[in-house]
Formats: sequence, C-alpha cells, structure tokens
Amino acid sequence: MADVKLTNVKKIYSNNVEVLKDINLDIKQGEFIVFVGPSGCGKSTLLRMISGLEEISAGTLEIDGVVVNDVPPALRGIAMVFQSYALYPHMTVYDNMAFSLQIAKTSKADIDQQVRKAADMLQLTPYLDRLPKALSGGQRQRVAIGRAIVRRPKVFLFDEPLSNLDAALRVATRMEIANLKDSMPDSTMIYVTHDQVEAMTLADRIVLLSGGDIEQVGSPLELYEHPANVFVAKFIGSPAMNIVPCRIEQTGAQTLVSLSASASIQTPIVTESSEQAKPAFFGIRPEDLVVVSAEQESLFSGDVSFVESLGEATLLYVKIPGADEMVIAKQAGTLNIKRGDKVYLSAPAEKMHLFDENEQSYLRKG
Ligand SMILES: Nc1ncnc2c1ncn2[C@@H]1O[C@H](COP(=O)(O)OP(=O)(O)OP(=O)(O)O)[C@@H](O)[C@H]1O
Ligand SMILES: [Mg+2]
Repeated sequence: MADVKLTNVKKIYSNNVEVLKDINLDIKQGEFIVFVGPSGCGKSTLLRMISGLEEISAGTLEIDGVVVNDVPPALRGIAMVFQSYALYPHMTVYDNMAFSLQIAKTSKADIDQQVRKAADMLQLTPYLDRLPKALSGGQRQRVAIGRAIVRRPKVFLFDEPLSNLDAALRVATRMEIANLKDSMPDSTMIYVTHDQVEAMTLADRIVLLSGGDIEQVGSPLELYEHPANVFVAKFIGSPAMNIVPCRIEQTGAQTLVSLSASASIQTPIVTESSEQAKPAFFGIRPEDLVVVSAEQESLFSGDVSFVESLGEATLLYVKIPGADEMVIAKQAGTLNIKRGDKVYLSAPAEKMHLFDENEQSYLRKG
C-alpha cells in the first residue's frame, strides 16, 4: 500500500537513445493508473524501471517516500504480472500460488489462508488442484495474478496481462481485474496496455505517453472530453476525433472559426486575442456529429464516400470539399443513406474542440 513518485526520470539505453525524456508523476496509494500509448513509446520501460528490472538513468523513484533507485527488485515490495504468465507447469494452481510464500518460509496456515483468499477473489477455487495445462488462457492469467496477490505487495505492476487472450476472454478477465481493484482498494496498481478500452474502463487516471513524453494525465473522461492536444484527441476514442484545419477569424469569449469549406461558426471556446486570422485545428468526435437537413445550419456538407453498418451504429465517411481527410460521422442504428448521397452534418457547440497551430488545445468554457 504505497505512493509512487517519479521525479525527472529518464531512460537512456546503451545505444544512447533517450527512450524516456523527463517523467514526472505522482501516484497516490490505492490509485489504479494505466500507462497507455502507441507501440514503442516507453510504457514497458517505465514499468520495468519502477519494478527495478531496469536501471533508472536519471531522476528519482520514490515508493512510500523512500528513494528506491538502488533498491533491488525483491526488496521494493512490488509484484509484477506479465503478458506471458510463465506458470510452473509441473505444479498445481495451489502450489503455483503458494510458491513464493514457501520460499519466504511463511507458515503453512498463513500460506493456506492467503492462497484460498486469492483463489476466491479470482474465482479460481474449483481449479486449485489442477495443473496449468488443464486451464484456459484466461484462467492461467488469473493464476499469475493470484501469485502476485498472495505476496501482498505494496504496488502491483501489470504489463499487458490480457494481450495474449482472445477477445471474449479479454473482456471476462478485464472484469476480474476490475473486481480485484474493488476488493483491494488500498493497493496501488499500475497497468500497461495499448488497448484504450482497457484504459478507459479500468483507470482512475490514465497516463498517455508518446515518444518518451507524457502527453496528458487525467481521468478517462477528462482525456475524452478535454484532450490537451491533437495527439490525445486522436488517441482516445474510436473512431478517432475528426481534426479539420481551420482559421480563427475572431477571438474572445466566442471564437469565430472558418472551416475550409463552410461558413464561419461560433464556438464557445476562449482564445487569446489577436488582430489577424490565425491557422488552427477544429476537432469534433464522430459520435458528436448529427445528420441534419439541408435547410438547417450545418458545420460540414459533402458526399458520402463510404457507409459502414455496424448494426448498433452506422459510420458515414464524408468527403468535405477542400479537406484532405474524410470526416467520419457515427450515427446510432441503421440509416437510409448510401454512398454518393449528399449529407449535412451539425454538432452541439459544447462538443467542439479547437487546437492552436502547435496542436495544443484552447480551453472550452464549461
Ligand atoms: N534493452 C533495450 N535497448 C535499447 N533500446 C530498447 C531496449 N528496450 C527497449 N528499447 C527501446 O525503447 C523504446 C521503448 O520500448 P518499450 O518496450 O518501453 O515500449 P512499449 O511502449 O512498451 O511498446 P509496446 O507497446 O510495443 O510494448 C523502443 O523504441 C524500444 O525499441
Ligand atoms: Mg511494452
């Protein structure tokens, strides 16, 4: 049960590439933190530095207020669960979970209590006498998690624990992890994934990394509703937010924006005052666009290039004159719209986003 604090942490591997640049992060006891970001952005490296498996090149790592840069992994009070669960194949589920406690010379009675409690939490009680080969992938991964739980670590680290599972098992095991978090509210958990659904559903706070930098830290909804920049806006949410180049015509409390192909629109976004029109980026999520009739006020109009019917929703790919990328509109249910139709798209003002020419977000009122 511990706070974890990283101050100016860097990682430079022997090839002199700075893989993590200057990481500052304050994780509170009991938080469920998710590191998310594209492949190669440094998620596993950061986790391995916290665990002690990887040396910290610069900066400090504190666990419970104590600098642990030079403390060996076994003494940090941390348990790690990896993508590949690596159970001992010749040992039962019970013995796999008991093993680290036996090594630590814990009494038999204590071991039994710990193992049964963890098995109960993870719904593994019926399988305690089985060998790993007689378990499904999801059950094996739960044994690996159980092995971590019995050690009662201060901090749990998970590196993509679900990525080897098929889609259905991934959902089921994700729910087990959510339950685990609820039943161990004092445990600090740090979880790496590149699956944004896992990040959105499990995290108290998400740390979105890219290229060795933190792009934004916040609750899942903060990142969804108030992305700090275009990168975050496009990473969180699927399909990604539409980003369309625009010009800011008039600044102030009601910023007037002209989109490449349509008339100027009022946005409730505050921008610093400026005499001249400025290039910027207008953002709107596919699910916030609504198809309206030609007479109504619209943001975009264009021809439908492609229709994807998903059953519960329909995606319209709309070619907007003057814009390079197609605008995607996500509408509930099925629609009577086909390729080649002209559509008009509108959106509520409070769902609009605006980014400056450096792709940083302007604040939205409310
Ligand atoms: N031992 C190493 N020596 C040199 N470079 C390394 C080493 N380990 C990782 N890297 C590099 O560091 C960067 C970050 O790697 P890391 O494994 O942390 O990424 P990741 O975010 O976990 O990616 P993924 O989602 O693919 O698992 C990558 O560019 C990788 O090639
Ligand atoms: Mg990784």
